Amino acid sequence: MLKSGVYTQLAPILFGNGTSQQAGKKAKDLNMTKVLLVTDKGVLDTGHAEKVVNVLKAEGIDVVMWDGVETDCPDYTVAAAAAIGREKAVDSIIGVGGGSVLDTAKAIAAVIPNGDGVLQEIVLYLTGQKRYAVQPLPLMLIPTTAGTGSESTFVSVVSSETMQCKIGLPCPPNYGIVDPELTVGSPAFITAFAGMDAFSHASEALTEVKNTPHSDLLAYEAIRLISKWLPIAVKDINNLEARENLALASNFAGIAFNESGVHMGHSTAHALGHMYHIPHGICCALVTPPIIEFSAKAYPEKMKKIGEIMGLSFSPETPENIGKIVGNAVRVLCKEIGIPSLKEQGLTKEQVLAAKPMIYQEPLCMTFDGTITEQDVITLLETLYDDYQ
Ligand SMILES: [Fe+2]
Repeated sequence: MLKSGVYTQLAPILFGNGTSQQAGKKAKDLNMTKVLLVTDKGVLDTGHAEKVVNVLKAEGIDVVMWDGVETDCPDYTVAAAAAIGREKAVDSIIGVGGGSVLDTAKAIAAVIPNGDGVLQEIVLYLTGQKRYAVQPLPLMLIPTTAGTGSESTFVSVVSSETMQCKIGLPCPPNYGIVDPELTVGSPAFITAFAGMDAFSHASEALTEVKNTPHSDLLAYEAIRLISKWLPIAVKDINNLEARENLALASNFAGIAFNESGVHMGHSTAHALGHMYHIPHGICCALVTPPIIEFSAKAYPEKMKKIGEIMGLSFSPETPENIGKIVGNAVRVLCKEIGIPSLKEQGLTKEQVLAAKPMIYQEPLCMTFDGTITEQDVITLLETLYDDYQ
């Protein structure tokens, strides 16, 4: 019997090469008159943010540029940007950049009208115990990497100083523009990290408790596109065809995990990212093989389908063997695209195992469609460290 569930598409997505040049017209449609354009210095150097500013100004829209985004969206930078937005009396937000930029833009849209107190009570907003007193500002997101899928997800992952963890603040965007040309020329290592972030969104969405036939469809297609095109984009950073396919995959994986969800893999990535500042995409790449091995116990058919999409075959077709073969294939993919191990990044096994309490306590960890024990988390961390050197 097919699983019942809610099929969702959060916001309209304008997809295609050159579409970021329509940002001005779309912003006008959304009644934006004075925009806080959120970006970082790296994106500023590419000229992408400036091009968006130009098309906004051509439509008579005022722009306040803020390029102070830091990696992993710390809550204090959200508060600092919100203060500027309030002082300048902006009425809308546009984020142009990678995952940290888009998540920061999302959080700013909620915090400007509702105050910095939101950042102290993220759990209450995330769990629905508290609702925003004022509607967040209109928000448009324009990704410059193919990985986060943030333009299609309702939360902003914020690094909370108060709670000493990464946590999701609900801030759904109103419009997304996915222009693959903005990702052309992105450095190979950023391309690799971002692509594996999207892969992990897809593979975890398949086994999260809210998975549906719709989210599965998008997740499988994202995995097919990433498996084929990520090594090509990493080898040739100017390959437009590879960039188009990866941009699509990132968005599909974003829709899939916004509808379904992510689970223990992302809890692990959040903990390692918060404790040791390992980039999110690297953590996601490294957790994916052991998560696939673990998931094969409850969902052997789905993990087998991932393998078939990657051109693998299985004999014997036992859950354990399926998990092992697919997990190892993902490790080979990670090696091919240059994902460094945790050891190579200077972490000891003891440091990695020390993340267990933070992982197990994160509510996200328990959204796997099956049972997760403390021993499962320990096994995941040991495998993560030992089986990818
Ligand atoms: Fe992610």
